[in-house]
Amino acid sequence: MTMQQLLTEKIVSRTAEVGVIGLGYVGLPLAVEFANAGFPVTGIDVQSSKVDKLNAGCSYVSDVPSNAVQRHLTSGRFRATTDFSSLATIDTVNIAVPTPLRKTKDPDMSYVVAAAEQVAAHIHPGMLVILESTTYPGTTEELLLPMFEKNGLKAGEDFFLCFSPERVDPGNPTYQTVNIPKVVGGVTAACTEIGSLFYSQALQKVVPVSSTGVAEMVKLLENTFRMINIGLVNEMALMCDSMGINVWEVIDAAATKPFGFMPFYPGPGLGGHCIPIDPFYLSWKTKQSGIEARFIELAGYINSHMPHFVVDKVQNALNDQSKPLRGSHVHVLGVAYKRDIDDVRESPALDVIHLLRKRGARVTFSDPYVHSIRVNGGDSIESSEETLRRDADCVVIVTDHAIFDYDGLVREARLIVDTRNALSGRNSPKIVRL
Ligand SMILES: NC(=O)c1ccc[n+]([C@@H]2O[C@H](COP(=O)([O-])OP(=O)(O)OC[C@H]3O[C@@H](n4cnc5c(N)ncnc54)[C@H](O)[C@@H]3O)[C@@H](O)[C@H]2O)c1
Repeated sequence: MTMQQLLTEKIVSRTAEVGVIGLGYVGLPLAVEFANAGFPVTGIDVQSSKVDKLNAGCSYVSDVPSNAVQRHLTSGRFRATTDFSSLATIDTVNIAVPTPLRKTKDPDMSYVVAAAEQVAAHIHPGMLVILESTTYPGTTEELLLPMFEKNGLKAGEDFFLCFSPERVDPGNPTYQTVNIPKVVGGVTAACTEIGSLFYSQALQKVVPVSSTGVAEMVKLLENTFRMINIGLVNEMALMCDSMGINVWEVIDAAATKPFGFMPFYPGPGLGGHCIPIDPFYLSWKTKQSGIEARFIELAGYINSHMPHFVVDKVQNALNDQSKPLRGSHVHVLGVAYKRDIDDVRESPALDVIHLLRKRGARVTFSDPYVHSIRVNGGDSIESSEETLRRDADCVVIVTDHAIFDYDGLVREARLIVDTRNALSGRNSPKIVRL
């Protein structure tokens, strides 16, 4: 029996031992889906606090209910550990560790390399390894494959290696890990085949592609598409502002066109672990072939300007009331990078707060999902009562959480700068829109 046949049997009978390295926003939901499908799952993370929480039946990812973790702990289908030696008996392993940027906007591959070194130390015949972390095209074949083949095992025969981009959208109630189509590409046809078979046991739709490079590029196309269209619409917002035109009304009317237009919305800047970061993985890689990713650089420039534009708006709105920004109390409503989630990674709210403070404003914030933040590596600021909106000279809506009482806000606040059109349909001279 070949290794492929052996692993196929284990996968189809759901006796394959599944491992997930990195139990964050991506890895934990994935681990739970495979446990839901009946596989025994071991989650491995370097943070013992996360591992302890999970083993105590407590989820820290809002899309994963604690009772799902508890159910799988009780049935024995899930356990978490910091011990990588478990990889020795694991049949499949998904790597979902962070891929941030360095300060220079170059990829920081240190987490992927550290996880891959652990896999390389325990790789054995019949193992399937799938990288899910977003990365530059070529990572799986150029970086991982040599690490895994260095002791003589051959990909596609002895072990199997794929890339499958993670497309999870935290906080999205309609699309979650289980029903987001899963693209998968292997370093050989056999790798793609077994990777597709594996995902099809737990997820609703699998989309095989011809190589790991294609699979890596799919994710970068998706995120670059969003980043550039957001950059375009942010630039439209700047243009509309200069002409006294309501950009939100323009977009809504344009979106009535039944073909050839897809609405994107302006805002205070990009946030999250994907859209502001991933396109720079692509531009870094293409630079090596002498191709400049001009759309990416331009959209990055416009998007990173938006927090400055928001702060100018606050300053102008206060000045119109004969108040200087310096010494004024500005309350930031919402600091998560998007609505109804608790994630502040790369959130534009952090830049807005930093810039407001730099210009001398006294800044407070409230966010029901975020208790404290650290701005520009400085002191930690605690979330204050939402009722501070009454005392503030200006409230800036940076994140439009559904839970906020917008009618109360319009009633009580003295001045509101709305960067998300959260107050759509409400008219008041105290509302200033982006
Ligand atoms: N969060 C999203 O919405 C999203 C969506 C699509 C793709 N992605 C991509 O998925 C990857 C993971 O993102 P995330 O949001 O889950 O990150 P995360 O920070 O929430 O989770 C990553 C986890 O990996 C752990 N970790 C770090 N180094 C490790 C190592 N060497 N071994 C084991 N564990 C390690 C961390 O402790 C953390 O728990 C990134 O490449 C990201 O770009 C994220």
